[in-house]
Amino acid sequence: MSMIETALLRMPQLGLGTWPMKGAECQAAVESAIAMGYRHIDTAEMYGNEAEVGAGIAASGVARDELFVTTKVWNDKLTKDGIAGAIAASLAKLKLDYVDLFHIHWPSATMDLDEALGGLETARRAGIAKAVGVCNFPPKLFRRAVEAGVTPIACLQVEHHVYLDQTPLKAIAREHNIAFTCYSPTGKNAVADDPVIRGIAQKHGSTPVQIALAWLLREDGVSAIPKAAGAMNQGANLGALSINLDAADVAAIDALPKKRRLVSPAFAPDWVNG
Ligand SMILES: NC(=O)c1ccc[n+]([C@@H]2O[C@H](COP(=O)([O-])OP(=O)(O)OC[C@H]3O[C@@H](n4cnc5c(N)ncnc54)[C@H](OP(=O)(O)O)[C@@H]3O)[C@@H](O)[C@H]2O)c1
Repeated sequence: MSMIETALLRMPQLGLGTWPMKGAECQAAVESAIAMGYRHIDTAEMYGNEAEVGAGIAASGVARDELFVTTKVWNDKLTKDGIAGAIAASLAKLKLDYVDLFHIHWPSATMDLDEALGGLETARRAGIAKAVGVCNFPPKLFRRAVEAGVTPIACLQVEHHVYLDQTPLKAIAREHNIAFTCYSPTGKNAVADDPVIRGIAQKHGSTPVQIALAWLLREDGVSAIPKAAGAMNQGANLGALSINLDAADVAAIDALPKKRRLVSPAFAPDWVNG
């Protein structure tokens, strides 16, 4: 498995997304993924599946230090005590002593940024979060978080796929050597019927989803966490790591419209000016 290595973390480039799986489906998906070589699992308090993710990890028999596990604190708990309580509850459900990466899931309009970052730092110093990061931060807020000096931000997780440009955020991440994780990386499988992507897939003897993932994963420091419930799609997604797109493929995908945001709840920040 190819790895992202920065001063702050060492993370497998491809991980398994677990939302919206729950119960037996979720545990089976985690077990199946680890059995075929996945070593990076993404969950969150809000997904309501940390116990199943933990059970899947335990059943896999793979040593804890070979796995990279991410969880996230919801945006109604971004105080010092709220974050401390959230990570303790997540670890109890996961039945783990630490997570490899602990994220703020969404910014909130009412949070005190320094206090929230301080909560992450307390978890990091205690060793229960090996690294910390933020999700769904727009560019100005992300820069403020990175430059606040409260805690070293190791990773940014945001929606990114062939239909959504994230150049400004990627530039900040690159400037600070911060890992960049793409969620909804297949565009929730929206690429399946795209004629441009299908043409490239045909050329490589692969599938549209594999091409969409390969376009993301070709960049240094970029990881992706596609959700796939079954072994077939999980295996296909691992296969995306071995696809080498040529310059013409990349140019054709770069030229697709890039303003389709799939995840933007009412409490989302101002994506452009926030
Ligand atoms: N931080 C955040 O706020 C945030 C927000 C959204 C998501 N996430 C994380 O990102 C993960 C992925 O995002 P997502 O679930 O929104 O979108 P996604 O991974 O782009 O799409 C998932 C969909 O694609 C299908 N799929 C996966 N691999 C496929 C393949 N090789 N061929 C055909 N179809 C395939 C899956 O079906 P099957 O399951 O049937 O394979 C599922 O319907 C989530 O699970 C979650 O962990 C984080």
